[in-house]
Amino acid sequence: MTGDLLLGQTLGFTGDPFAAPWEEVAVHRRRGGVLVDRGRIRAVGEADALRAAHPQARVHDYGQALISPGFVDAHMHYPQTPIVASWGKRLIDWLNGYTFPQEARLANPAVAGEAAEMTLDLAVAHGTTTLASFCTIHLHSADIFFEAAAARGMRVVAGRTCMDRNAPGDLRDDPRSAHDESHTLITKWHGRGRATYAITPRFSPTSSPEQLEALGALWAANPTCLMQTHLSEQTDEVAWVRELFPDARDYLDTYERYGLLGERGVYGHAIHLEPREIDRLAEVGAAVVHCPTSNAFIGSGLFDMGLARRLAVGLATDTGGGSSFSMLRTMAAAYEIAQLRGAALHPAELMWLATEGSARALHLGGVVGRLAEGAEADLVVLDLASTPAIAQRAARAESFWDMLFPTIMMGDDRAVLSVWIGGREVEEERP
Ligand code: GUN
Ligand code: ZN
Repeated sequence: MTGDLLLGQTLGFTGDPFAAPWEEVAVHRRRGGVLVDRGRIRAVGEADALRAAHPQARVHDYGQALISPGFVDAHMHYPQTPIVASWGKRLIDWLNGYTFPQEARLANPAVAGEAAEMTLDLAVAHGTTTLASFCTIHLHSADIFFEAAAARGMRVVAGRTCMDRNAPGDLRDDPRSAHDESHTLITKWHGRGRATYAITPRFSPTSSPEQLEALGALWAANPTCLMQTHLSEQTDEVAWVRELFPDARDYLDTYERYGLLGERGVYGHAIHLEPREIDRLAEVGAAVVHCPTSNAFIGSGLFDMGLARRLAVGLATDTGGGSSFSMLRTMAAAYEIAQLRGAALHPAELMWLATEGSARALHLGGVVGRLAEGAEADLVVLDLASTPAIAQRAARAESFWDMLFPTIMMGDDRAVLSVWIGGREVEEERP
C-alpha cells in the first residue's frame, strides 16, 4: 500500500480505562507506526514491521515524539473566542456582561466568519481535530462554522443556539423560528461530509417550555442528531431553574419532560447533580461533558469524575467560559480538580478522555479519537520535550507515563509538532 507512514511513539486504547484497569487497555509502542491512506488509518503496529510491509509508503519519522489520535473537544462556543479570559464574574453575570453582547455581534456574518476561522486555527494549533460547538441564535452562525470546518476537512458537531427568554431582545428567537431554522440546518448539514448537527437549546433558563417542547419534537423527528445543552453548572443556576420550572423534579427533568433527554443527549458541566439525575442519565445512556478550566475559571465547582464509571464522559475546553484552547491544559485542569476531590487520574485516563472518551460522548466512537485500523486519520504528534521545563523533567522519566505526564501538566501548543486531518498533514498556520 502507498500512503503515509508516521513513525514515533504511539498510544492507543483497546477499551475504556474507566471500565477496566488502564494497564489492560492502553497500548503504548516505543517505536510504533501508523499507516494512513485515503483519509483513514490502515494499520497500527511496530515501526519496523510496518516499514517492511509497506515499502512504498512515504515515511514521516517523528523520532521520540508521540503519535496520538487528534484531540476531541466535546463542548465549546466558537462565538466566544474573542471574549476568552474576561475577568471577574460568575455564570449568570458572565453571560449577561460578556457573552451575550459578544454573541449579538455575530448578527454580522463577517464577525461570525472571523470567530469561526480564528477558533479553528487555534484548535488545530493545539492539536484539536474535532470540536462540538454552540453557535448563536443566528442561522448563519451555524452555516458559517460548518462551512469553515468543511473547507479544512474537519469533523465537527455544531448547532444554532436557541433562546427565547432571559436574553437580550436581539438574541431571542421563538419556539417556531428555533424549530424551523434548526430544521433547515439539519437538512443542509447533518451527515454532510464530516458534519453532525446538534439540536442546541442553550439551557433551560433561556428557553420557554414551549421552545423546549418544539425542540424535543424536532429531535424525535431527527433522532440521529445529537442534542447539546448545559446542565447543573452553578448552584445559583440550579436554584433559578427550580424557580422557573416549579413543577420539575430537578434540572434534568426540565429537559426530560419536553423530550430532551436521550442517548444522543450531551449535557455540559453536570456538576451539581441529584442522585435521580445521575440514575436517569445512566439509564438512557446519555453523555455528560467535563469542562474543568471553565469550572475553575467561572467558579462553578468540582466535577465528580467517578461518574465516568456509570456514564459516557467527554472532556472539553468550554471556551470562552473555559480559559484555554488546549486540551493538554484541559487534561491538567481535570487532573487538578480530581486531586481536589481526593483522586488522581492516570495519564492514560486523561489521554483517553481527551480522545476516545470525548468521541464516544459525541457518538463518534471508532470514527475519530481512536488509533486503530478503519478510524478516520485525524492525528496529533506531540513533542514530549517541548520546553526546557518539560524537557528536563522528561529526561528523568522512569517510564513512558512519567515522560508523558509533564507534557499533560505543562504543555501547550508548543508541544504540537504536527497535525493530520483526514489523512493529510496540516500546513503550519499559527494564528
Ligand atoms: N450556560 C449557559 N450558557 C453558557 C455558556 O455560554 N457558557 C457556560 N460556561 N455556561 C453556560
Ligand atoms: Zn458551554
